[in-house]
Amino acid sequence: MKENPHLIIFNENKDTRGCLVAIEGGNNIPFEIARVYYIYNTPQNIERGFHAHRNLMQVLIAVNGIIEVTCEYHGQKSFYLLDSPKKGLLLSGLVWRTMKFVSDDSILMVLADTYYDESDYVRNYNDFITLEQNFLSGFLHERA
Ligand code: TYD
Repeated sequence: MKENPHLIIFNENKDTRGCLVAIEGGNNIPFEIARVYYIYNTPQNIERGFHAHRNLMQVLIAVNGIIEVTCEYHGQKSFYLLDSPKKGLLLSGLVWRTMKFVSDDSILMVLADTYYDESDYVRNYNDFITLEQNFLSGFLHERA
């Protein structure tokens, strides 16, 4: 597994008719796709997300517009500007994420490796921090 989160740049098939990007599960993204959802008609600068997942893998793509994604993983914050349908942001598991829909024409398409499962969500930030600390102390304990 590469670093988490991780930006993927897709190949673009571009000609005079426009552009085409193809995404193949297990090929240019590292999982088979079980679910696709998209978020649209968002008010300008609205923020969504504010959760993490216990196990889910997802790729986030701004198929239109501009979306800023802020992530927190293992105590480190990172920031990604999704401003092209060629960019996919891979998030795996326990990443706290917020997505800001900068332009009102923004459309966020998400590819996920499992069906929707509310029990996989961590929606409380303090619970997220506790899970992270448990993970890190287990990791350090294993190395000792
Ligand atoms: P929510 O998790 O609040 O969206 P965001 O990630 O932007 O914060 O989801 C909004 C609603 O949609 C919520 O009632 C759950 C539902 N939903 C599904 O039914 N299936 C799905 O795959 C997803 C992602 C959400």
